[in-house]
Amino acid sequence: MTTRRLVLTRSAAVVGAASVGLLLPQIARAQSNKIRVGFMLPYTGTFAQLGVAIENGVRMAINEKGGKLGGREIEWFKVDDESEPSKGVENANRLVQRDKVDVLIGTVHSGVQMGIQRVARESGVLSIIPNAGVHAATRALCAPNVFRTSFTNSQPTLALGKPMMDKGLKRTVWITWKYAAGDEAFEGFKESYTKAGGTIVKELGLPFPNVEFQALLTEIASLRPDAVACFFAGGGAAKFIRDYAAAGLKDKIPLWGSGFLTEGVLDAAGPAADGIMTTMHYSDSLDTARNRQFRLDYAKTFKLQPDVYAVQGYDSGLLLAQGLAAVKGDMSNKPALYKAMESQTIDSPRGKWTMSPQHNPVQDIYLRRVENKENKVVGIAAKALADSGAGCKMG
Ligand code: PHB
Repeated sequence: MTTRRLVLTRSAAVVGAASVGLLLPQIARAQSNKIRVGFMLPYTGTFAQLGVAIENGVRMAINEKGGKLGGREIEWFKVDDESEPSKGVENANRLVQRDKVDVLIGTVHSGVQMGIQRVARESGVLSIIPNAGVHAATRALCAPNVFRTSFTNSQPTLALGKPMMDKGLKRTVWITWKYAAGDEAFEGFKESYTKAGGTIVKELGLPFPNVEFQALLTEIASLRPDAVACFFAGGGAAKFIRDYAAAGLKDKIPLWGSGFLTEGVLDAAGPAADGIMTTMHYSDSLDTARNRQFRLDYAKTFKLQPDVYAVQGYDSGLLLAQGLAAVKGDMSNKPALYKAMESQTIDSPRGKWTMSPQHNPVQDIYLRRVENKENKVVGIAAKALADSGAGCKMG
């Protein structure tokens, strides 16, 4: 109240002192002083829940910091990208060209991310990737204005091969959606599993977001591997888990995967998910005060259980809030802003993490087991794992 009266008094003095012509640009600037934040996320389709969790997480982090960024109010914009790669550039430009956002937060799907990456590199707009793991974004196509708060597609699976071999699972069938996320998750799996001495019996795939798994499950049954490893996520992952159990494979051939398989789907999958082993940079059951508080607050605010996507959104909000606080909301000094964002430690529910030089999290990867609709931590599968960042030249 006091502040507002002070402002009014001051502007009255300005009116008295200045001509109307001089005053107008000041008013215009005051009105446009809000930071324009755009979400480009899937709000429909198999990844719809993931988009919602990310947006919730971003808003929660910023609300905890007082609801402003570097002291400035926020104006929000939203585009549903439908996880449709062919519309990636057009949708990114809706936010960048039409809405003139200062920062674009998005997206989930690696193919769509390639469209955002192009627009980010061409326009120079600040881009925060809250999920999509496509390697190129922080490797060959890295850029000073692009920051990722999630993972690269091979990060979780680089930690998957060894624990499988430790359990004596020597012959594995790999199955995934055939697009960048599945293919790059396979790269990480292949490297870690073959290095540990495992044999990949067969690679199976189907187009994204297809969920007709039956023929492939029949093939798995006839191949009789020691284990199955996979990448699936969202609604498709819930169906894969249910179909795997319904095909009678659950108690015969252990199911392993990149941890997205069991994120946000445990209610939908039910007992069919029990016993699934995964590697991931987060776990519901991480026994830290930070994670317990986060889970409590998120559940209270959104009436939903948080998952890895909510955490990645939350960390995107923290990164943005901390970066803008460091430059006091001044987005015009880009080098200072990016330097501040590069040097932040993010105190995440997943554990503290820092940015690699290529702008991807350096983070621990947990080994987890599904028990009673929860991803329980079994151990740490990799400590402070960084992506190679191969081929990245900043600047
Ligand atoms: C991706 O397309 O990069 C992607 C999508 C969903 C996930 C993980 C990665 O859960």
